Amino acid sequence: MDLKPFIYRCALALLIGFATFTTINFYRAEKPFFIRLRQKKRVHYKIQKIKKHQSGICAQLAGEKSLLTFRLSFQNDDIIHVQINDSDCTRYVVQDVVTLHSKILDSRDLSMEENNNTLYIECMHFIITIVCDDFEMNIYRNGKQILSVNSQKLLLMEEGEPHVGASADFLFNAAIRAYGLPQHAEKLTLRPTGNKFYRLYNTDRFAYSSADCFQSLYGAVPLVYAHGSDQTTGLLWLNSSETFVGIDYTKIGVNSTFFSESGAIDFYVLSGPTFEDCVKQNSQLTGGVPLPPLFALGYHQSRFSYMSQEDVVEVSNEFDQHNFPLDSLWLDIDCTDDKKYFTWNPTTYPDPTSLFDLLNRKKRQAVVIIDPHIKVDQDSALYKTLKEEDFLIKNSDNTTFTAKCWPGVSTWLDFFNPKVRQFYAELHNEFLAARNLHVWNDMNEPALFETPENSMPKDVVHHGNRKHRDVHNLYGFYHSLATYNGLMSRQNLRPFSLTRSHFAGSQRFAAVWTGDNTATWQHLRISIPMCLTASLAGFSLCGADVGGFVKHPNDELLQRWYQLGAWLPFFRGHSNRNTPRREPYLYSKEVQQRIRRSLQQRYRHLLHWYTLFWQHQMTLEPVVRPLIYQYPHDHNVYDLDTQFLVGEDILVCPVTNCKQEQIDIYLPGGQHQIWYYVKQLGVDKYKGVGHVNMFVDMDTVPVFYRGGSIIPVVENPVKSSAFLQDYPITLYIFCDKQGNSTGMLYCDDRKTYNYKKGEYIHVRFNLTKNEISNTQIKRNSRYQKPITVGSINLYGCGLKVEGACLKVNNSAIENTITVAKRNCYVQLSDINVNVKENFIITLLDK
Ligand code: NOJ
Repeated sequence: MDLKPFIYRCALALLIGFATFTTINFYRAEKPFFIRLRQKKRVHYKIQKIKKHQSGICAQLAGEKSLLTFRLSFQNDDIIHVQINDSDCTRYVVQDVVTLHSKILDSRDLSMEENNNTLYIECMHFIITIVCDDFEMNIYRNGKQILSVNSQKLLLMEEGEPHVGASADFLFNAAIRAYGLPQHAEKLTLRPTGNKFYRLYNTDRFAYSSADCFQSLYGAVPLVYAHGSDQTTGLLWLNSSETFVGIDYTKIGVNSTFFSESGAIDFYVLSGPTFEDCVKQNSQLTGGVPLPPLFALGYHQSRFSYMSQEDVVEVSNEFDQHNFPLDSLWLDIDCTDDKKYFTWNPTTYPDPTSLFDLLNRKKRQAVVIIDPHIKVDQDSALYKTLKEEDFLIKNSDNTTFTAKCWPGVSTWLDFFNPKVRQFYAELHNEFLAARNLHVWNDMNEPALFETPENSMPKDVVHHGNRKHRDVHNLYGFYHSLATYNGLMSRQNLRPFSLTRSHFAGSQRFAAVWTGDNTATWQHLRISIPMCLTASLAGFSLCGADVGGFVKHPNDELLQRWYQLGAWLPFFRGHSNRNTPRREPYLYSKEVQQRIRRSLQQRYRHLLHWYTLFWQHQMTLEPVVRPLIYQYPHDHNVYDLDTQFLVGEDILVCPVTNCKQEQIDIYLPGGQHQIWYYVKQLGVDKYKGVGHVNMFVDMDTVPVFYRGGSIIPVVENPVKSSAFLQDYPITLYIFCDKQGNSTGMLYCDDRKTYNYKKGEYIHVRFNLTKNEISNTQIKRNSRYQKPITVGSINLYGCGLKVEGACLKVNNSAIENTITVAKRNCYVQLSDINVNVKENFIITLLDK
């Protein structure tokens, strides 16, 4: 029998079947929601039934079929809040992120008038106009238009399940640059998006590309700042579902469109008017970084993983033997028993208490990893309790959701349940008995194995029957909130934790880093704008893994990375498990010496860093800043992200190119500004210059001090930050054109909340004419430990200093100070005055 025709027929049938199947699936497959939203017919919303409420106005927005609720409130004198939800307010509204309550207005504070189809609202220095029959809202501050909402008519609340997207467009009038939207591997300035949008969807991206600027990474902060020559305006789009953001530069301003997969339309307008105001307004809204314990600002050594506790001890000893300062050692997943967090590997970490004791004697800390997944293990008491208590994330059929992660088959804690957070916080009590043990929260996007994008399916269910889709970007936020609460219960110890996933507001609980970067020059360079953007969004404690986590850096790259890392707030060396070890002492003498210099440079300035974090807590100024923050009128700095400022006074221009021999530097501040470049021998003084070209070798780290600043430095090499208090400080005084300078110092016990009882020192140092003096910002300080000024290095002082005399609390002190003329500065030594006393040093020029 000839089987051929039969086989052909079968093959044809199969082919047709397959083609039909794939075609149907192709057409059935849901288009990504934001394409769908962009293609939707525009809805003309009418505003009606407008009423005043105690903080603003509320109304109805009538769409084609639906009635929406509209609420506008004033948070304070500078921040406006708008929330649009469906009529029964069922769309998810992000909770716990904004900490500022709306302002209670006096009924006379707000006036409202409708005229010619336009509603006029006047309140404080704002006028808001709303076009009633085709909703469009314009915000004016002090008579100047700063924002138009829905001028492109992209405002949309999709109707009916499963299409529940939300979108809106914002025109920032007269703006010429946009910044923000962490976390992306992006330059400081956001680029026009065209057809590709910035995606905000917390995702585990191992070895992410430094070139794909739109790809979502581990954190999502839906915040944009739009800057023009005389107005900066910010917008926080408070939505935790997957979101795409478009940026368009037009002749009349910057247009930004937000498309979210679900949830309410909920946004805050930060009305500036300056860049600095906007950045601070964002932190007023979502909170500042609390003063970290000092060790958090020191150097951290990590590795995936230190495989035994002996290994950890050895690393700590080697750092000592080679004179590298070090504050903490990090314990990655292999320290656990079979990847069960809150346990120790019985074979390789048999006695963790003795490890922490030993580190404690060395005045060092440990940081242990705690991920949010829980191994499915019937013998684990924790797993059993979580299951019994119903504390785990569910599938839509009410079974426990499982997937693979580090421990194999795992489940995930449902941090959206306040009881889970409470339970989880309490888990830390016993586990963190050692007071020098702190926490690292990783994989909390959450990251899974063997699922699309390593992500959690969007239809899994959280507490309160919330779909993961609505809350995805908040998972890590609640994880770090629970950890923070756990750490807070340790008597009088300030928490430190690091989180990979983050959302707006996470800065209140944890430091952040840029995740699994790679040992390439591109990644070294991109870490600068990534940290600057984070800092502008409120995340002052941000850093990138020094050396690059993935792959192995060559010696040149590693040294350059330490030279930069020493000037970013969170400073940690970390490396992946399949790369060679790279603790600094493993390198040649020459390389070691350069790394040592970078580490020591960090510790020399550590009290300055600490003072900046104190200032951040008090004033909400970012610790590291792009130049535009400080010089918002200087067009030369609008896109500048190869150099940055630490506080206001230190300008860091790191070398970030392979075999680089020259560097182009921009010195801001105009013709009267002086910048000092302190070299190993001598100093270069730059006056009123813009672009400068400098030759560099492997030892060059171009760092400039602003004329007019005073920086406290501890010159003595230390083994960890805890030893700094044993040494006197040297004041580096950099004179401005008039010969004046000022600077601050904050000090406390480095780790507790005793500063809240007045146990701290906060002083200002001044140089005016020929007098160096201090002023107590904190009067009647209860801080007991003496902090002494041992010496002063005076740069750029026009006086011929021949001698100096000291008065303490108005009484002259005999003959103490030695004056020496060094290469390019005057050194005053043997001063030894406690900064708590009021002193005046008079410089004598004869
Ligand atoms: C991913 C993190 O980004 C990395 O830093 C860590 O070492 C590994 N997870 C293992 O925990």
